[in-house]
Amino acid sequence: MVVQRTLAIIKPDAVKRGLTGEILSRIHAAGFHIVAIRSQRLTQKDAEGFYAVHRDRPFFRDLVEFMTSGKLVVIALEADNAISKWRDTMGATDPAKAAPGTIRKDLGTSIQNNCTHGSDAPQTAAFEISYFFTASDLA
Ligand code: CMP
Repeated sequence: MVVQRTLAIIKPDAVKRGLTGEILSRIHAAGFHIVAIRSQRLTQKDAEGFYAVHRDRPFFRDLVEFMTSGKLVVIALEADNAISKWRDTMGATDPAKAAPGTIRKDLGTSIQNNCTHGSDAPQTAAFEISYFFTASDLA
């Protein structure tokens, strides 16, 4: 077991549908510690930079539009094996393929409107956490 941090995002679809509390409850129930949390709206530049790894994917423009369509909640989470633990809590990217009891299965409505984001590896987590939070936010 290794204590890790990961970035979670409650996406605009979930915020608009009033699911922030439900998702935070699931985060607590799963045993994560919330290190830092903020509600904010992304600019187009913010969203393009955050998802730069996907810039050549066919869904990139729609993804940027979606992620800038309303407020989202960014959260730095800490736990043993936080990266895989949060991905397990969220379920597969496509809600239709996610396991029962996961956030995306229970609450997501499409592969794009899948309620939450999570980092996929330690390097990605470091980049994504620092994209939103300063060292003093995380102290
Ligand atoms: P996320 O885990 O935030 O990473 C990239 C996001 O792109 C993904 O969740 C989905 O919201 C969105 N997306 C839209 N279409 C696709 C697709 N076909 N494959 C993967 N991700 C997609």
